[in-house]
Amino acid sequence: MSKVVVANDHGAVELTARIVDFLKGEGYEVNYLGTAENKSVDYPDMAKLACDEFKRGGYEFGILCCGTGIGISISANKIKGIRCALPQNCFAAQMAKEHNDANFLAFGGRIDYSDDVIDMLKAYIGTQTSQDERHARRREKMMALEG
Ligand code: RB5
Repeated sequence: MSKVVVANDHGAVELTARIVDFLKGEGYEVNYLGTAENKSVDYPDMAKLACDEFKRGGYEFGILCCGTGIGISISANKIKGIRCALPQNCFAAQMAKEHNDANFLAFGGRIDYSDDVIDMLKAYIGTQTSQDERHARRREKMMALEG
């Protein structure tokens, strides 16, 4: 069974619950790290928790949510090996997998998206990473920026 790690701050409790339900319904084993409460937590802490867990291995991808998705995605992208995309619609979610091979997706619980987050997730899951030389080269260059 494919595994997904999921974490969020207090700005996206309901959205994250929807995502977890969807993933479980699709047959994923979900390691949900919280927070399931509206009590304030710091998004960098939640990003670190999920990314550290992802890097222990065995996960297909990870999901991070905060109020906008911005703070938690920036935090995740500070961590070596993490490519966290913040898609704004289904096309971007598809490209995040196809071109960027994003291993995390971030979403905002307080954002009005034109596409439903679950549809974005479906677009990501249903897409293969392109093995085309130019995309592979760009991904390598992107990761080399980590230093
Ligand atoms: C928390 O209030 C909020 O700042 C956070 O959820 C997120 O939107 C940050 O980028």
